[in-house]
Amino acid sequence: MILFWGAPVVADDIARVISAAGCRDEEIAAVIDSVGPGRVAGMLVDEIAYRWDRPPVELGEEVVVQLCFRHGASGISYLVRVDPAGVTYEPNDVEKPHVRVEQDLREAVRAVFGPGDGRAAAGRRLELRGLDSPLAFVRPPPAFRVAQRLLATMDDRDGFGLTELAGRYGSDKWGIHRYTQHYQHHFEPLRDRPLTVLEIGVGGLSVSANGYGDPTKGGESLRMWKHYFPRALVYGIDIVDKRALSEQRITILHADQSNPAELDEVVKETGPLDIVIDDGSHRSEHVITSFRTLFPRVRDGGLYVIEDLQTSYWPRFGGNSDVFDGPSTSVGFLKALVDGLHYEEILDSSDRVLGDFDRAIKGLHFYHNIAFVEKGLNAEGGGPTWLRQPSRRRR
Ligand SMILES: C[S@@+](CC[C@H](N)C(=O)[O-])C[C@H]1O[C@@H](n2cnc3c(N)ncnc32)[C@H](O)[C@@H]1O
Repeated sequence: MILFWGAPVVADDIARVISAAGCRDEEIAAVIDSVGPGRVAGMLVDEIAYRWDRPPVELGEEVVVQLCFRHGASGISYLVRVDPAGVTYEPNDVEKPHVRVEQDLREAVRAVFGPGDGRAAAGRRLELRGLDSPLAFVRPPPAFRVAQRLLATMDDRDGFGLTELAGRYGSDKWGIHRYTQHYQHHFEPLRDRPLTVLEIGVGGLSVSANGYGDPTKGGESLRMWKHYFPRALVYGIDIVDKRALSEQRITILHADQSNPAELDEVVKETGPLDIVIDDGSHRSEHVITSFRTLFPRVRDGGLYVIEDLQTSYWPRFGGNSDVFDGPSTSVGFLKALVDGLHYEEILDSSDRVLGDFDRAIKGLHFYHNIAFVEKGLNAEGGGPTWLRQPSRRRR
């Protein structure tokens, strides 16, 4: 297969803004100067509109918001319209908006992309129209709800769990499957980090394309990850060319998970990975090839997740319902990793040779149809020698 590269979103620039967001003002300022203040302001508004728009605030009328980012002596203004159909924005000024937010650009970068919640609002100015009417106490105007959502979006990251987000973005990771509880359990401690997340399989079932063949459909889970991990760069790969679905913080590449050379090209684009989710073909052979190729590229402390392990028992996917621990099925392969986890305890008399992943897997977690493999140095040392000796027979 020919690979088509050149995703339209410049992941490098947004990655620089995200990592600067956790630093001091001077470092944020340096990145703003090099990326360009206008582009950085645009990234912030795009992100705010994205998080804010799910679901749209239920309003009977349009609410106009002005976001103004101070930068030195100048300001960069965006006009944001919130109406029942959703949120749209354009770089523009507006007279008498319903809500006006003014904030130093560096501080806004820290609020939207920095670690931690609600720590970057000290210099923010918020103006609301309609406060001077006594009726505002009885029936708060729609602008109030819009402003509340805006501030939650900027500072509190709204705190939605994955089950909620799966519903909002249409991911089948909850509903058809019940994976979100397990994802939440393993991913929550990583949520605030500037991660690189790669999902194999972009999805987008379509009746007209007879399966996943429509290049304009899919990306539901990628959008869920983007919302859940506010500082992550999210990548998706698919055997169908779905690159047109790329957007800020989501880059989609065209690659076949069963081809190690193509996966190598993918990692050249993504750099080291923190999380890999295999939700692609679910054919055992492909699952094992992808793991062998991509797991070494996962950083220590990262996770490699394999979904839909039920296919390991189905011959149509290269699985087997008679032999459970053969090395050619996904579950058989994973079971062998459990032995590798204990390689230090295996007696010298055994003829088992050191496995490729023995020293690099710290933990394996299995749930119904899904497994999480934790990357990390597995070198605790074996049990004491006297305990490992075969016991002496008493006379
Ligand atoms: C179950 S869907 C993915 C759903 C998606 N991860 C989600 O949660 O919304 C499987 C996807 O894997 C893709 N796929 C199938 N074989 C593949 C392969 N060999 N390499 C990469 N992607 C593949 C299909 O085109 C399809 O889009």
